[in-house]
Amino acid sequence: MSGPDTGGGDGDALLPNPEAMRRLGYRAVDHIVDRWAGLEADRPWQGTSRAVAEARLDGPPSEDGGDVEALMDWAVREVFPLAGRIDHPRFMGFVPSGPGWPAVLADILVSGHNVFQGTWLESAGPSQIELTVLEWFRGWLGMPEGAGGILTTGGSVANLLAVVAARDLAGAPEGGVIYLSEQGHSSLERAARVAGFPMERVRKLSTGTDRRLPVDGVAAAVAQDRERGLHPLLICANGGATSTGVVDPLPGLAALARQEGVRLHVDAAYGGFAVLTAEGRAALEGIGQADTVTLDPHKWFFQTYECGCLMARDPGELERVFRVSAAYLQDTHLQEREVNFGDRGIQLTRAFRALGIWLTVQSAGRRRLAEAIEAGIELGAKAGAWIEAHPELELLHPACLGIVCFRYRPVGGDGGRYGAARRGSDDGWEGREGRKEDPWSEEGLETLNREVQDRMLQGGHAMMSSTRLDHRYSLRFCILNHRSRWEHVESALEQVVREGRALS
Ligand SMILES: Cc1ncc(COP(=O)(O)O)c(C=O)c1O
Repeated sequence: MSGPDTGGGDGDALLPNPEAMRRLGYRAVDHIVDRWAGLEADRPWQGTSRAVAEARLDGPPSEDGGDVEALMDWAVREVFPLAGRIDHPRFMGFVPSGPGWPAVLADILVSGHNVFQGTWLESAGPSQIELTVLEWFRGWLGMPEGAGGILTTGGSVANLLAVVAARDLAGAPEGGVIYLSEQGHSSLERAARVAGFPMERVRKLSTGTDRRLPVDGVAAAVAQDRERGLHPLLICANGGATSTGVVDPLPGLAALARQEGVRLHVDAAYGGFAVLTAEGRAALEGIGQADTVTLDPHKWFFQTYECGCLMARDPGELERVFRVSAAYLQDTHLQEREVNFGDRGIQLTRAFRALGIWLTVQSAGRRRLAEAIEAGIELGAKAGAWIEAHPELELLHPACLGIVCFRYRPVGGDGGRYGAARRGSDDGWEGREGRKEDPWSEEGLETLNREVQDRMLQGGHAMMSSTRLDHRYSLRFCILNHRSRWEHVESALEQVVREGRALS
């Protein structure tokens, strides 16, 4: 034996004997299955302070090793519970993720095989599977023949690749400008920063009352920059904005981009897989005309973290931008149609992420996945209708692609400690009949709803998050989980009302 024993004569800790490997592996699987089976009865979130986490979990590295089974049990008992159960059916905060079982199985296989997927030489089979799933995505998005892409760690990196590609394909001109929506995801602004765009050349354009980028507004911004002698390079549109789910007018923006010789990127990280449904396809019409599209299979395509994707109309452009040759990689030179995925992005060492997608699609079938996505869209719409019908709730944006934004707004009363400032007539609120005279100030409603959000978080019944819309504080559900049913959404809404009543 060359290393510490894993316990009970199992052999080397790094390479236990086959029986021990099986027993330990089954133990890990048992932990996962127990978690999945008991998930609904568990709370959707549990956090703690750094001080508590440190006191409970911190410690020095072991010099001589210990019993791996006991250590796994400890991690499952002590570490994992201090986190969000983002796949819990009542976890509707931020952008949740509910992986399916095939993706978990694929992760186990991928870890156990640990293929290096940066070059074709070292990963012909896995690289072919990645090409295959990218081709499926191309078809679903309606991108032209020949389009392709790369799987990434997530949407942030996919957005970064799109921004860097736009900059370099234009020859990285002085005065390059990038156009974002004020509703765009923060990762686009970070991508622009990393790509060296000074903030004065990152235009965050205002949206209309529908929170979509107006095509004429973008056209005016582009024209104004040209007049100033600047170089418009890239328009970034939303294919499902994180706050509200809205989709920008993609056909109009694609036409504008073509006309202006500017690239169009669609950030469809969370919303893109809605193209598998009739409603999503209609909402995302025109997405296939983009130069690049970000998708996040780890959001609404039932994959585990980290699985993002950048699709490109011409994947050869990605290779021109990102390929760097090196003497020690000369053996990885390609024949004709093979792909070194390390040439299409910023990672050389890459995991075999495509297996989870492939196993999910081939075992569940496209139809089942489309139904699961459709269910999220329908639950969001039903929640929107429930909110509209409820006298104490106010819908702040129409439900869209599984996202619904709203707030608690008590009926009557004197506003208590939240309503001291009588609501001004110029706050832009056009509430329902009978509410015109209500005493709740914007500030009061914000404080009240912040407290509702906090009590929801601490109470542990359901997890949601918040956003700001037109400077107003909004509660927000994002319903993407294949486990979520109406009873989960309804009980979370009822809890919001209970918390609101308790506070007002
Ligand atoms: C629209 C959008 N773009 C990009 C991202 C960033 O993706 P990731 O967290 O996978 O890096 C998100 C994450 O929520 C998103 O909603």
